[in-house]
Order: sequence, then structure tokens, then C-alpha cells
Amino acid sequence: MSYGHFSADSKEYIITDPATPRPWINYLTNDQYCAVISATGGGYSFYKDSKTERLMWWIGPNILYDRPGRYIFIKEGNEINSLTWEPFRKKLESFECHVGLGYQTIKSSFNGLQASVTYFVPQNETCEIWLVKIKNPSKKTRELAVFGYMEWFIGSTDYINFYNISVLWNRVRFDQELNAVLAHKTAFYEEFNIKDNPYVGFFSSSEKASGWDCNKYRCLGRFNSEEHFSGNLTQSICDGEDAIACLGNKITLKPGEEKTLFFILGQTRGQSEAEKIIKKYNSVALAEKELEKVKQYWVEKISPVQIETPDKDFNNIINYWVKYQLTMCNLWSRSPSFYHEGQGGRGYRDSCQDAEGILAIDAEYARKKILKIASLCRRDGTVAPGWSDTYGPYPNRPFKDHPTWLTPTVAAYVKETGDIQFLNTKVPWLIDRWAEGGTKIKPDWWGGSKEDGEGTLFEHLLAQLNFTYQDVSVHGLPRVGEADWNDALDMAGRRQIGESVWLGMALVRSLKILAELAERLGKTDVAADLLEKAEVMSGRINKDGWDEAGWYIAGYNDDLIPFGSSKNAEGSIYLNSQSWAILAGLVPPGRLTTILNSVEKNLNGKHGLALLHPAYTKFDPGLGRIAMFSKGAKENAAVFCHAQTFMAAAYAKIGMGNKTFEAMCQIMPNKQKDIELYKTEPYAYAEYLIGPDHPYAYGEGAYTWLTGTAGWTFMAATEMLLGVARDYDGLRISPNLPSRWKSARITRPFRGADYEIEIENPNGVEHGPVEIYVDGQKIEGNLIKPHQDGKIHKVRAVIKK
Ligand code: GLC
Repeated sequence: MSYGHFSADSKEYIITDPATPRPWINYLTNDQYCAVISATGGGYSFYKDSKTERLMWWIGPNILYDRPGRYIFIKEGNEINSLTWEPFRKKLESFECHVGLGYQTIKSSFNGLQASVTYFVPQNETCEIWLVKIKNPSKKTRELAVFGYMEWFIGSTDYINFYNISVLWNRVRFDQELNAVLAHKTAFYEEFNIKDNPYVGFFSSSEKASGWDCNKYRCLGRFNSEEHFSGNLTQSICDGEDAIACLGNKITLKPGEEKTLFFILGQTRGQSEAEKIIKKYNSVALAEKELEKVKQYWVEKISPVQIETPDKDFNNIINYWVKYQLTMCNLWSRSPSFYHEGQGGRGYRDSCQDAEGILAIDAEYARKKILKIASLCRRDGTVAPGWSDTYGPYPNRPFKDHPTWLTPTVAAYVKETGDIQFLNTKVPWLIDRWAEGGTKIKPDWWGGSKEDGEGTLFEHLLAQLNFTYQDVSVHGLPRVGEADWNDALDMAGRRQIGESVWLGMALVRSLKILAELAERLGKTDVAADLLEKAEVMSGRINKDGWDEAGWYIAGYNDDLIPFGSSKNAEGSIYLNSQSWAILAGLVPPGRLTTILNSVEKNLNGKHGLALLHPAYTKFDPGLGRIAMFSKGAKENAAVFCHAQTFMAAAYAKIGMGNKTFEAMCQIMPNKQKDIELYKTEPYAYAEYLIGPDHPYAYGEGAYTWLTGTAGWTFMAATEMLLGVARDYDGLRISPNLPSRWKSARITRPFRGADYEIEIENPNGVEHGPVEIYVDGQKIEGNLIKPHQDGKIHKVRAVIKK
């Protein structure tokens, strides 16, 4: 069964059946306002933070119903239809949803009418526009009522716990002069912290409303549900009850006539800002112009770095969709989707990886993000685990792996831009209530976070790695604390005894990278010290992190019981300790083939590499929530796409192009042929595919869109597989291809010039020495020195045997 296909130019995915197995979503967004939208108009919008400023009503289980949403109802006589199929689910004469870059167009026909709605978020205002076109192809004049409908939430998702109280704060009314519904909650509520609420939601229409409702109950009647919408509006206000906004417009369409109108939904600080936006969008022509601008913006935004390989699916996902997904991850981190609960904010480790991923596309954006992340670091090298744009640094405990993530990102920035002086940028140190070692609350602390003077970016990185290097336990391996990369290992080290082998590896990798940076800054002693630490830690990992069964263990818990070890009946091998041993470059000769065989034998399957094997079947208080998930779900032995991509990167590091590509294909959303099984969007990576130990759902996609997979996939494809990699002194060409590929092509901007690189693989190898011609001239070695001349340079790279 197929639910749709990509457009010929791959820039749209066209959904032809609205009853997709899961809601297939899209993000319409600028950097202040975001609408998460399904193919049937479902989903929610928020302002700045999906937790604190949620405009529309939505909770987790709505993923099963795909309601409520942004609806356009069209009524003629007593016949009423919904343009978006939901919420009526009536049979339509035709249906298409064009999932676009920055827009979503739903087209349908019913009752002899042809209608479409395009949803988009203008670039500079905190609102979304629903641009509606209705055509009367018949020979008679039609009198229609057109309704725009949405449901308010207004405020923090914390209110969901006491929802019926929180609706008592609702004040929603129609302002005739503005032709808009204005929605407000009287104040912000957090226990002992009640503040004035300056925000106003608004919903307006390009046509003068002939009717309206603000009160859900009055609009829909008893047994409140959008599917009972009748179109008999009551001109209600809403005071302390469930609130909606519905505006009705009357239009007449002559035979063959088409009419365009729009609805506009948004939120601002203060009503006067809302009035400005409503007044600005005073014509259909302006709304249409803004849509064109948005479409152009997104195509331009994701156009840098294009590839052409023998694999069309790969080209398509890398050229458009993964970059688009990566941009969403950068903008909104891991919080707003149909799967995530919308906890708001941005996590430290995720943000480091997102910033690294986007470097080749938007280094300036990455630079700002890096400095923001660095400002979460305390003088002792511990870090706040994330931040929200509305309430600042996260107050809760840090995860132990966080200090290791920023170094690779900063190094990648330096390699991309050549700006080594970036490391001398002054960045504030954070001071907050978790001041003692980052894990103990300072009892006399009052108030929010503060700054504690400044240090250079390099000093921040050094403090972080020194912290992790010293924060070790009995085997000299880093403490696992509240979790390592694996968030779900949240009870393995609470008593601060447990250790993470994976974290030791991440540390070794970062120590080596920071040593390179130190060297380039002329800090030779520091570099030597860092390398020595990397050596010491590698030795400990190879001694106490090695399992004679033939793989690296994952760690020791607080009772010093190993996990990810052949001594464990469940969870006896973890993928990340194998991939990161390779990425950290610490595997001694003789062990490499052994761990590769162990991965192949124990973890690889037809839908990809399981995160661990076998799955946990019962809760283990010595590990944590990892053992709570169903077998094969999330961190409990799913094919975790992020980790799969770590392994793809590891294969590339050792020149195994075939395995790199195989690992990438296994999780590629547009290569999933059995959609009834896979269920989720063919155009966005899932966080995971359900793993082999699940009783019935092996291969099902879940938690789409917001995952480190996007950044790592983009880097693995371009920097590692095609092997056109940023390096300190230029672009280094070192492909790791599937051996059946005879040629491939990549274009990439680099330090103020554009490079068009043709890779030739006449001998059908995975990897080999490369002969390079730049603008027709053969060069020595495989490093292209930056031209920085604003020109296009043609490169031929021939892989030798
Ligand atoms: C999620 C989180 C990521 C974490 C991973 C494993 O993808 O966003 O930070 O590393 O789960 O727990």
C-alpha cells in the first residue's frame, strides 16, 4: 500500500491518502514561532518554547487521533465538509497533501467544489497563515459558508495536570473592529511564582467574519468534538471555559470562479503587536507574496551541499529532506513533535551535535549556538544540561557525558571556517545552585543562574574535559552518574560509583581533538598533557572495558556489576561501545576484526543494528528506565538510528564503504518499502525502528524528526562516505564508497569558494589513495588548500587501488 510519493523534483512529498498509518507531519516555522502540522491539518503551534507558550491544545495520545487541528469547513445548504479530511473523515472526491519545505498544502474536492489550503509561517512575524482557495467548476452559482477553526491551549503544558482549573483562567472574545478573536490567560502560574501574562493569541480572517465562536461548548454542543461541527455559530465569548476560535465567512462563487481568502493565527507580547500583524496582512496578494518568500527562503537555506550518486533515494534524502530535518532539530531541539511531550528547551548534548551537523550549511548559525552552549559551563567544567529561550539554563542535574560533546563541535567549526581564533572568544562561566561539582545542590543558593566572570572558549573546553577525566570511579573510568549518551541508563550510577566505558571512549576522542586545537594555538604542553590523558584512559578501557567474549562492555553499575557484558544474560553487548572504540581510535591491532564480527553476529538484522542485545525483559533497578521499555522500543534494544549512524561513521573511519552505506540504507526513511510495517514519514528519519526482540513490531518507525540522526547522517554522507571533509588546512578528500559505485559527485561551499567534486572509482574499491586534480592541475596529497576567491573550482578525485 502506498500513501504517496515524492514530487519529480523531490522538493515535495505528496500524500494521496489522508489515512496514513501514523500522522505524517511537517514543521512550519521561523525562529520564534512554530506550527507542527500533520497531513490533515492536525497538530499544534507554539511561540518560542513548546512548553511554556503553547497556543494550541494537544497532548500525547493525540498521535492516535490526529486531532484537534487547523480546520477549514465549507458548508453549502445543509451539506458540510472539511477540506482537510479531518475531523469528519468523510469520503472526499480527491485528496492530496503536499508536504513542502516550509509549507503544507492540502487539496481536496468534494460536493463538486475544488479547494485547497496552504499553511505557512511568514518569516518575520509570530503567526501562521492559512491561505484558502475555493473553486466552483460547476455551471451554477454557489453560496458557501467557509469556517476557520482551531482550539486554544494558551500557556504552559504544566497546566495539563490541572487542566480544568487552568481553563478558568481563559478569557477569549471576538473583537469586531479588529475582526479577530483575542485569547488570553489571566496570568502565568507556577506554584509560588504567579506572574502577569503579557501574551495574546489571535485568530483573524481576511474576510469580515459573519459569525464567530470562542466557546467550544457553545460551538460544538454537548459531547464536544470537532466532528460534530455544524456551522451554526453562536457569537459566543469564552470566560473560564474550553476555548476555540471559529470565524465564519460567507462567499458566493459564480460558475468557474475561484476565490482566495486566508485565516491568520498567532501570538504576540501585548495586543498592540497582534493588531500590527493583523493590520499588516490586509490583502490576499500580500499573503501570497509572503508565501512565495517563504518557499524561496527554504529552498535557498538548504541548497548548499548537493550530491549526485548512483542511488536516487540517497540523493533525495541528503539533498533536501535530511537538511530540512536537521534545520528543525537545530531550531527546536528534541521537544515539539507528535511523539515528544513538548518539554521545551534544548538539551546540551543534542545541541552540540545539531550545531556540528549544520556547519557546512550555516556556519554562522552554528557559531552562535556554540557560544550559547559554552555559556552553560561552570568553572569546574560541569555544565547545565540545557536551556530554554524563555526561562534560561536548566536547573536540574547534568548528565555526565555532556562535557565531552562541545569539543568536537568547536573543532569542526574551526575546520569549516579556518577561524582558530574562535577559541579565544570570551565566554561567561555559569554559576547556579548545582555549584558543587555539578551534582550537589549548594544549599544556600537563591535565585536563578548568574554569570561567574569570563574565560576563553578554549578554557571552557579544557575545564570540561578535565572534569570528566577526573570524575572517575574504581576502574579509573568516568562515572556514569545520571546517564551517559544513553539517557535511559538513569539508575546505573546514581550512587556515583557506576562507570561508563562508552563515556571513557567519548572522552578519549575529545581529548585527542582538543590536543589538536591546543597544538594549533601553540599550547604544546597542554596538547601533550591531553594526549597523555587520552593514552591513560584508552589503557583503562582496553583493560577493564574489554570482554573476553570479543567486545567492549558498556560499563559497571553502582554495585560494580558490568552491563553490556557476556556476563549479563540480557543486554550483553551494546553497539555504542564498539562504534565509539573505533571513533576514539583506541582499538589495539587484533581487536578490530573481533569487534566488527561481534557487531555483525549479535546486533545486525534485516532492519538495522540493535542498540543492544538481547533486550531487557524486566525492570532492573541497577540500570534504570532502559529496562522499563518494551523489548525493542527506545533504548531497550531498538534499532536506534542515531547509534546506527555512529556505527556508519565508524565503518567509514576504517574505510569500509560498503558497510557504511548498508548501515545508512537500513534506516533511510525513503527506503522503507513496507509502509504498513514502518508506518512513519518516508521523508524524515525516525529516532528508532522497533528492534528484533519486540513480539510483533520489528521494523516499525517511531519518534520521527527530532533526532541526532539527522546531523550525523548528513555528515556521514558528505564528510565520511563521499569523504569530502573539512580539515584545519583545507578540504580533505578521502571517500569510502560502496564498491559498486563507479562515480559520484558533490558540490560544496568551503571558506568563500565553491567546489564541484567528481569522484571516480574505476577499480570498484571501497577506499584507496586518491589522485586529485584541482581545476585541471594535479595536486600532491589529498588536501585542497582553501582558495577563498568566491569562484567555482572543479575537482577530479580518482580513487586508486
Ligand atoms: C534521544 C536524546 C539523546 C540521547 C538518546 C539516547 O535521542 O535526544 O540526547 O542521547 O535519546 O538516550
